[in-house]
Amino acid sequence: MRIILLGPPGAGKGTQAESITRDYKIPHISTGDIFRYNIKNNTELGKLAKQYIDKGLLVPDDVTNRIVEDRLSKDDCKGGFLLDGYPRNVSQAEALNKYLSERNLKIDHVLNIVVDRDELVKRLSGRRVCPSCGATYHIFTKPPKVEGICDNCGEKLIQRTDDNIDSVLKRLEVYEDETKPLVEYYGNLNLIRNINGNKPVNEVYEEIQALIGDEF
Ligand code: AP5
Ligand code: ZN
Repeated sequence: MRIILLGPPGAGKGTQAESITRDYKIPHISTGDIFRYNIKNNTELGKLAKQYIDKGLLVPDDVTNRIVEDRLSKDDCKGGFLLDGYPRNVSQAEALNKYLSERNLKIDHVLNIVVDRDELVKRLSGRRVCPSCGATYHIFTKPPKVEGICDNCGEKLIQRTDDNIDSVLKRLEVYEDETKPLVEYYGNLNLIRNINGNKPVNEVYEEIQALIGDEF
């Protein structure tokens, strides 16, 4: 199955991606995670991406498209994949469309997670992440067993550098201007499946399963 996860920052894309990729056994391709990995390892890509990410802006399309195409060409994507955070504007969607149609491949579902704006700000400002294993927590809705410590690996949790209020507001603005038009773009292709993301994590996942089927 080939799935795109669409939704504003904080909608729960990464959270739902964990369950989907575990159950449907497809690789999770998150452009945000790829950039953060490169920032952590201080690569050339990481140095470039950091300048945009910390300000809440999009990394340039040519760089992002190249990374995704390279990742999609790997063997583990032959049986399907889940794209999280890509495409993020119409130009990236067109690049993806070109890449897939040249290989006679098509997207099965575009899951659009819809969440109220106030809730998004609360989720992002309370998010904490593990710098070691990547696990995501929330200080109120998904706290770790021991405050500030990762349940999986015992590492000290941190706040993402783009989860400060200025970057959050900028990311929401960029979403409205650049990413939201994709709802119409994929709607015209009859691929959009709207998901109510305001509900608890497990209920959101149940809605996703009901829409895409449970043939793992
Ligand atoms: P990216 O990493 O993609 O971030 P984002 O889209 O802003 O999304 P987030 O990771 O913030 O949120 P999420 O929807 O995954 O929510 P999560 O599950 O963590 O991108 C970061 C940056 O990289 C971009 O700003 C850009 O600069 C760059 N970038 C990335 N892709 C790019 C591209 N294609 N082109 C150009 N630039 C690109 O959940 C959030 C919190 O809420 C967590 O604490 C979680 O525990 C909690 N939560 C989740 N679900 C629920 C629920 N149902 N109820 C209550 N709490 C919940
Ligand atoms: Zn951890």
